Amino acid sequence: CGISGYLGTEPAGRIVHQGLKNLEYRGYDSAGIALVGDTLTITKTEGEVDELPVPTQDDITCGIGHTRWSTHGEPTEANAHPHTDCTGEVAVVHNGIIENYDALKASLRDDHVFKSDTDTEVIPHLIETHLADDVDLLTAVQRTTDQLEGSYAIAVTAAGYDGIVVARQDSPLLLGHADDATFIGSDATAFIEHTDRVTYLESGDIAHITREGVEIYNHGERVERDVETLEWDADAAGKGGYDHYMLKEIHEQPRALRQAISGRVDELATSVDLDIDLPEEYLQSVEEIQIIACGTSYHAGLYAAELLEAHAEVRTSVHVASEYEFNGGRDPWRTLVIAITQSGETADTLSALRTATRAGARTLALTNTLGSTVTREADDTVFIRAGPEIGVAATKTFVSQVATATLFSVYLAQVRNGISTKTATRLLESVRDLPGAVQQILDQEDIIKETAREYADSDAFFYIGRAVGYPVALESALKLKEISYDHAEGFPAGELKHGPLALVTSETPVIALLTDETRPKKTLNNVKEVKSRGAPVIGIASDPETTGHVDTTFDIPDCGAMEPVVGNVALQLFAYYVADEKGRPIDKPRNLAKSVTVE
Ligand code: G6P
Repeated sequence: CGISGYLGTEPAGRIVHQGLKNLEYRGYDSAGIALVGDTLTITKTEGEVDELPVPTQDDITCGIGHTRWSTHGEPTEANAHPHTDCTGEVAVVHNGIIENYDALKASLRDDHVFKSDTDTEVIPHLIETHLADDVDLLTAVQRTTDQLEGSYAIAVTAAGYDGIVVARQDSPLLLGHADDATFIGSDATAFIEHTDRVTYLESGDIAHITREGVEIYNHGERVERDVETLEWDADAAGKGGYDHYMLKEIHEQPRALRQAISGRVDELATSVDLDIDLPEEYLQSVEEIQIIACGTSYHAGLYAAELLEAHAEVRTSVHVASEYEFNGGRDPWRTLVIAITQSGETADTLSALRTATRAGARTLALTNTLGSTVTREADDTVFIRAGPEIGVAATKTFVSQVATATLFSVYLAQVRNGISTKTATRLLESVRDLPGAVQQILDQEDIIKETAREYADSDAFFYIGRAVGYPVALESALKLKEISYDHAEGFPAGELKHGPLALVTSETPVIALLTDETRPKKTLNNVKEVKSRGAPVIGIASDPETTGHVDTTFDIPDCGAMEPVVGNVALQLFAYYVADEKGRPIDKPRNLAKSVTVE
């Protein structure tokens, strides 16, 4: 979910509405705005922010808003935020989950009427009970947050109250500062066109925003938080002439990769500098790496694990973050836990990170987002430098994650003396070749588009690969299912015959990763197995000996262990054009959100 808020001198409704639009990638099931005058004016809608009329009360300069990704309760207008108390005078927007809402609701039920199925609605009612004790809104919010269990970022305002109170526990929230105004956002995209001066609130913070300024409290004590200046290119967040953000972001990959690599690999491609603070002695003593991540980042983790095991000679396991339980062998300190997360805000990943920290492991974050929660909580951070990604389906951040993780593998291998200069150079050169290789794929867009159109009506799509080809098979299948809603699955090529082969027919294209360093000859056997059952095969390959065995080939330039990533770019385009052929809402697939900040 996304929260946007404003207190200043301009029409609040327009600014909050635009903020919600900017935050829509966090959820787009329903939306709402509360404007504050002598009474509250609340507008809500089911569906996307565009469905919500832009408020026209231009004299009102204080407001809060919300765009929702449903957890408790269906995406209806009644469940849309802001929620109010019985008097209709207190309005609350919330991101997160109130775990004890059932008990709280039961305790309130006798005297309060609830209008929605959400966990959030208990908050305004609790605030109402405290206001009845004749305390001010700040105190009422403080008392309310003492009763809440779970994660939340909330913004609260009330009729006749020319201010906003916000609070955060685990879920992200930050303030933006301009000369005559304060902005509230779940992240800086909410208000980046107005200001780049921000304050990140910490867990437990409650901020009181009035025309006199901002006061921040933590556990009742007044605290100071820094004002930071963001380095952010607001233009980079536009569509730049493409039909969808996703297509723009696919095309931005050569640049994103250059940014990921720039200044990190020396001229002769012999060494890497990632500005890592974790001490070398520690990295030498690490016995095990555990990678935690979700979705696309999990696939980047699988790719990284292959390289870490092979080159840094360190046992590496990859965990879906929501399933993670720390297992640090004999000595937790010798386990390095790497959290891979584009947004740096995924609740499942943050929760797993906290589990690792509690157990005594050292932690490293690999993220795209400056100032995100993961960067504050991990011991050290490496940025992937992909630039803002708006399309819900991750594209450029996947390739940047893999490129950066490959650099980290070489760095770690060198610190641990586990790699020859020749191998390091081979890997680093293949990373350095990536931007050019990806460009060559983008130049084949027309052929890929044509193939996508040809196969768009298929019953299902199967992706197969080995070694580093396997995570790419998973990722490419995920991309297709996310945006086209077609059934798509990735398998280790050798596993197909152990079950999934039963699903293969002439109506189920099989997409095979046949690139270098992924045991293409063995995978070709699996290709023959599916072809003999009538399935059309698209090969991702460079070697003419291989390409002779498939129906269509997406040609991959030579770049060693990075070839599957390049193949992934071809398959991003394939997924995009299948979805486009079907007229899907590519940037905002149904039921999904880019950043899921609840567990
Ligand atoms: C959501 C998005 C996915 C993303 C995953 C992890 O589910 O829809 O595209 O891969 O979260 O996000 P993160 O920001 O942690 O990489």
